[in-house]
Amino acid sequence: MRCSQRLAFLLIATLLSTGVTGNSWKKDRKRDKLKSQRDANLCTMEGNAAALHCVCVGGSPPVNTTSAECWVFTGVTKDHSIWSLFATQPHITQLKFLVRPQGLFTFVPTKGLRHLSHLRELQITYASINEVHPYAFANSSSLRELTLSRNQIVTLDHHAFAHLTNLTELSLDENRIAEIRRDVFVDLPRLQKLYAAHNNLSVIQEGAFRHLAHLLELELDTNYISVLTRDTFTGLGELKRLDLSHNKISMLGDLTFSELWVLESLRS
Ligand SMILES: *[C@@H]1O[C@H](CO)[C@@H](O)[C@H](O)[C@H]1NC(C)=O
Ligand SMILES: *[C@@H]1O[C@H](CO)[C@@H](O)[C@H](O)[C@H]1NC(C)=O
Ligand SMILES: *[C@@H]1O[C@H](CO)[C@@H](O)[C@H](O)[C@H]1NC(C)=O
Ligand SMILES: *[C@@H]1O[C@H](CO)[C@@H](O)[C@H](O)[C@H]1NC(C)=O
Repeated sequence: MRCSQRLAFLLIATLLSTGVTGNSWKKDRKRDKLKSQRDANLCTMEGNAAALHCVCVGGSPPVNTTSAECWVFTGVTKDHSIWSLFATQPHITQLKFLVRPQGLFTFVPTKGLRHLSHLRELQITYASINEVHPYAFANSSSLRELTLSRNQIVTLDHHAFAHLTNLTELSLDENRIAEIRRDVFVDLPRLQKLYAAHNNLSVIQEGAFRHLAHLLELELDTNYISVLTRDTFTGLGELKRLDLSHNKISMLGDLTFSELWVLESLRS
């Protein structure tokens, strides 16, 4: 009698304890699943562990945000798997990258941008992007405004800004760009404003702007430009405003401005 009671007690105890572990195991699994869902969403991933932390504001985050500000931490590389998380938020129209004071962000994140087919405005500031590589903006046909001021950019590769068929405004102010070569700006049929003031520009290759038939404003002030020729501004048939003030211009070809048919304002 005592013996069978004891046995029953043991049996119940065993059942209870396995029941309890079974439940907590299920809970753990549920928690893990929730955590991996959170980690697999650009808007909810946990900041400290990640190389990137995005704050989603517009739309209805976390499922469907339209606007995000992403902080970049040190250690994120061009090929980091984190960039594929942008695929979880395909409705983003406005995106800003901000760099932590100790952070180091040295490239344009093409791998993330290629997932954003509704992106209209992109801003990157205070990064240390030495070089803008070819097709850096993933041939986006939705992008309209691109702001890349204050990123210590020195080199614009060929096709750095290419096949951006809706781009209307490009700001490259306050970098250290030394030269504008011929094939940097390609297939930008809607570009109206190009700003490259406060750089280190001394060379503009002839024909550098030849694909910018609808450009209205060009700011190149506060640079080191010394020579302009007839072909510097080839192709800018609709340009209205040109700012060349605060440069080192000593020699102007006779016909430098001869193709600027509709120019209304020239500062030099
Ligand atoms: C996400 O937002 C877009 C536009 O803002 C909308 O067209 C789409 O239906 C939304 N999708 C979901 C799943 O809410
Ligand atoms: C952009 O288009 C060019 C030329 O068509 C292609 O070579 C390049 O791989 C494309 N880049 C991206 C990121 O889509
Ligand atoms: C390009 O801009 C026009 C309006 O300016 C818009 O209707 C069109 O949808 C845009 N294209 C893309 C791919 O976003
Ligand atoms: C500006 O360009 C000159 C060469 O034209 C170079 O020697 C100098 O280091 C550059 N300055 C900066 C701040 O990049």
